[in-house]
Amino acid sequence: MPQAPLPASERLYFRRLQESDAEDFFLYRTADEVTRHQPWKPASLYEARDYICENAHVPMNAQGQWVQLGFFRHSDDVLIGDCGIHFLREQVSQAEVGITVAPLWHKQGYGSEALIALIDFLFTDLNKYRVIASIDPINFASVAMVEKVGMRKEAHHLRSYWFKGRWVDDMIFAILNEEWQ
Ligand SMILES: CC(C)(COP(=O)(O)OP(=O)(O)OC[C@H]1O[C@@H](n2cnc3c(N)ncnc32)[C@H](O)[C@@H]1OP(=O)(O)O)[C@@H](O)C(=O)NCCC(=O)NCCS
Repeated sequence: MPQAPLPASERLYFRRLQESDAEDFFLYRTADEVTRHQPWKPASLYEARDYICENAHVPMNAQGQWVQLGFFRHSDDVLIGDCGIHFLREQVSQAEVGITVAPLWHKQGYGSEALIALIDFLFTDLNKYRVIASIDPINFASVAMVEKVGMRKEAHHLRSYWFKGRWVDDMIFAILNEEWQ
């Protein structure tokens, strides 16, 4: 069966993470700047490797599944960050996304560039209808990034998400295919 194309942008290409990426992935996924607002942190390099290997086999666009892709710089193949795509179980034409950039590369436009490429891929190649992101309101970098690419704030849920031992707020941002076009 022909493989669907993967997202790409001027500086970045996306692909499935491989075992050989585990060390770089583990290093930035355990950095304070990255774990501050994210629920998952690999406890060891082995856990990072297991996560990558398990995810490598999750089919793209399968209902209820999360697919993780790394994004790499064209010029030197450096792993800049990764994204998660959640293909919603009940709403098959919708997807939830999350972006992580390694701290070394923060504030250089990589997060928004990756998000634009990802949304474009979901609307154009996978024909999705709506893309959403769920964000902790005090994750200012993430809020700035999604607003920069044109996602709208649709909801602010108070104390709705159990995170690191306490209830925190959760904001939902979204964009429709017709708005993107
Ligand atoms: C959120 C994240 C992916 C942004 O990546 P990035 O590559 O630094 O983002 P960009 O450089 O594309 O910046 C996008 C916008 O956010 C702004 N921004 C970036 N970091 C910021 C910060 N700490 N505080 C406020 N605004 C910030 C930028 O100024 C830019 O806006 P501008 O172009 O209008 O100036 C990155 O901070 C990250 O990986 N954080 C940890 C993981 C995480 O919490 N992910 C969110 C899960 S959805």
